[in-house]
Amino acid sequence: MADVFTVLAEDHTEVRRMLDELEAGPTKATGAGEDALVQRRKVVQRLITEESKHEAVEEEYFWPAVRELVPEGDRMADHAVAQEQSAKQVLDDLIAVHAWQDRFEELLADFIADAREHIAYEEEQVWPRLRAVMTAERAKELGRKVEAGKRRAPTRPHPNTPPRPGVLKAAGPMVAAADRMLDKISGRDRG
Ligand SMILES: [Fe+2]
Ligand SMILES: [Fe+2]
Repeated sequence: MADVFTVLAEDHTEVRRMLDELEAGPTKATGAGEDALVQRRKVVQRLITEESKHEAVEEEYFWPAVRELVPEGDRMADHAVAQEQSAKQVLDDLIAVHAWQDRFEELLADFIADAREHIAYEEEQVWPRLRAVMTAERAKELGRKVEAGKRRAPTRPHPNTPPRPGVLKAAGPMVAAADRMLDKISGRDRG
């Protein structure tokens, strides 16, 4: 059974792969044709889905554990959750923009830089400190919760939902069900 660090690291690897692909282009400015731009938009949609689920379960399960166990955990969690909230706002703005609009690349460039900084902060600053104080058993239990949580997490960013665990628990399942229905209607679940 994978522990929480393994589960979150798999997500980070997948997100980084998508960021690399998006950075490699081509973009409209570097000569992408219509098919390439449609493909680029699809990668961004997948990125939005993966990021939305990932940050939602971190806020539900991971940051509360950091706050509980890590000395200075509140400060670290506050910093990381603020990064997550601003990333969600950028992703939410991206939903309404097409890949041939200049705004698309502006928003995406912002997101890519912020996402890399956020992932590095978690992996390099937070994980070593949590690893030092968390038992292997608790890390596995948290990994199970995170994995199960992802299956019913929202697939859209919801930047206006307060990033507190209790709020997500109450609103999460209904919001997630509505997201998945919208994904079906828009064909996003097939893209
Ligand atoms: Fe995060
Ligand atoms: Fe993360």
